[in-house]
Amino acid sequence: MAQTIAVLDFGSQYTQIIARRVRECQVYSKIYPYGTSAKTLKDEGVIGIILSGGPSSVFAKDAPMPDKEIFKLGVPVLGICYGLQLMGRLLSGKVSRSDHREYGKGVLTIKKPGRLFSKLPKRLTVWNSHGDRVIQLPKGFTAIGSTENSEYAVIEDAKRNFYGIQFHPEVFHSECGVDVLKNFLVGVCGAKQDWSMKDFIAHSIDGIRTKVGKSRVILGLSGGVDSSVAAALIHRAIGKQLTCVFVDNGLLRKGEREAVEKLYGKHFRIDLRVVDASKLFLKKLKDVSDPETKRKIIGRTFVEVFEKSLKSIGHADFLAQGTLYPDVIESVAIGNNPAALIKSHHNVGGLPARMKLKLLEPLRELFKDEVRRVGSALGLPKEVVWRQPFPGPGLGVRVMGSLSAEKLEILRQADFILQDEMMNSGWYWKVWQSFCVFLPVKSVGVVGDERNYSYVIALRIVDSIDAMTADWTRLPFPLIQKISSRITNEVRGVSRVVMDVSSKPPATIEWE
Ligand code: XMP
Repeated sequence: MAQTIAVLDFGSQYTQIIARRVRECQVYSKIYPYGTSAKTLKDEGVIGIILSGGPSSVFAKDAPMPDKEIFKLGVPVLGICYGLQLMGRLLSGKVSRSDHREYGKGVLTIKKPGRLFSKLPKRLTVWNSHGDRVIQLPKGFTAIGSTENSEYAVIEDAKRNFYGIQFHPEVFHSECGVDVLKNFLVGVCGAKQDWSMKDFIAHSIDGIRTKVGKSRVILGLSGGVDSSVAAALIHRAIGKQLTCVFVDNGLLRKGEREAVEKLYGKHFRIDLRVVDASKLFLKKLKDVSDPETKRKIIGRTFVEVFEKSLKSIGHADFLAQGTLYPDVIESVAIGNNPAALIKSHHNVGGLPARMKLKLLEPLRELFKDEVRRVGSALGLPKEVVWRQPFPGPGLGVRVMGSLSAEKLEILRQADFILQDEMMNSGWYWKVWQSFCVFLPVKSVGVVGDERNYSYVIALRIVDSIDAMTADWTRLPFPLIQKISSRITNEVRGVSRVVMDVSSKPPATIEWE
C-alpha cells in the first residue's frame, strides 16, 4: 500500500492545492471528507493527516468537525488555518471568535524552527486568511512562530507530532510554503518521496475499473490535451469498454481529423467513431456573421450531433470527460459567466442528465501541467501533450464574418504553412498560440503582370501564461518573412499577410 497522507477537507478553496503540493513532494495524498472516521484512516494506512482550512468559524453551529479519535491514532497531524483552530478547540486550548476575516500578507517570525521549519529562514512572508484565532495553547503545545496579529501563528506538540499553522503554506504567495509542507511530510511523517505520475496512473486505473465494472463508457474526443489524456487513461483501464466519438465539424485544421484517426484508432486501437458533420455545421452557419451567434450555433450543433451519435452507438452508462480541477473551480466560481458556458459546450453540458449518464472524470483533481505529465507517461506524443490551445468553435471564429468552404480552405492552407514554419524553427513550443486569421477584405496584389484582388491573412502569435493577458511574440524577422512569402506564394486567393501586434488587453487573443 502506498504511504498515504490524508487531507481532511473542511471546505477550503485550497484543499486541492494542498493535495497538489503534496504530490509535488512526490508523496501520495488523498482528500477525505472532514468527518471520515479515524478507523477508516487507520485501515487505509495513513501516515499523516492534514486538516485543511475552511470558510467556517469553529464556533458556528454547523461547523464541520473531524472525528476526535484521529488525535489518538499516533500519526502526525498538521492543522492549517481552520485546521489549527480545530486543534485549539478540540485539544483543550482556547480560540477567540472573530466576526471578520483577516486576509493578506503577513510576516511570520520563527522563534524555534523545530522540525517544521528546519533549515528555513527565520522571517517569512506568508499569506493569511482567517477569522478565529487561538488565544490559549492546547496542552502539550508551544508556540514556535508568530505574526503581527497572532501570537500563536505556528504551534507544535513535538512529542505527539501535532502542528498547527495559521497561514496557508499551499498558496503560491507564502514564501517557502512548499518547504514547510515537505518538512511535515518527510521530516515529521517520514514519507519516502517515491510517488510519481506512474503511481497516479496505476491508482486511477484501479479506481476507473472499480467504478465502471463491466459498463460501457463514451467520451467526446476533441484532440485537445484534456480529452486525449482522459481517453488514453480510461482506455488503458477498460480497453474496449470505451468508445470515443470525434465530431468533424468542418472547422478543423488541415490534417487534424486524420491525425486523431491515426493516433487513437490505429496506434492506441481505441474504438473510435468519427462523425463527419461538416456539411451540417456549414449549412447551419450559412450567412451567419455575428461571432456570438456563430459560437452558439456551433455549440448547439455539436451537442445535437454528439447526442445523435451516442444513440447510434447503443447503450452506455458513463460519459467520460477530461475535466480538470481548474474547470471545476471555474464552473463553481463563475456561475453564469459566459466562460462557464464555453466549458459547458466543450464538456457537452446538460447531456449526462438528459441521457441518464453517470460522469467519469479521472483528471478532476489534477492541474494542467500534471495532466501533461500523465499524458507523457501514457505514451502520448509531444504534439498532443504540448499542443497549443485551440478553441472549441475552431476555425469558425478565425474566419471573420460569414463562413464558406472556400474561406475555410484558404485559412486551412495558410495556417498549415504557419504551423509548419513554427514547428521547423522550434518556435511552436515557445509561444502560447500561433495561428492565422482570415480577413474577408480584398486588397490589390500583382501576380505576374496582372493585378488581382485577393484576401488578407493575419498572423496572430502570442506569449501568455494563462490566456488572461497576452503579448504579441517578437518572432525573428527572417522567420516572419518566410511565413509571409510562403503564404502569398502557395495559397491561392491570398495577396497580403499582416501581423497582429496587439496585446491582451485591450485586444483578445482570438479575433472573434
Ligand atoms: P481570448 O480570445 O478570449 O482567448 O483572449 C483566450 C483563450 O481562450 C481560447 N478561446 C476559446 N476556447 N472555446 C474554447 O474552448 C471558445 O469559444 C474560445 N474562445 C477563445 C483562446 O484560443 C485562448 O487560448
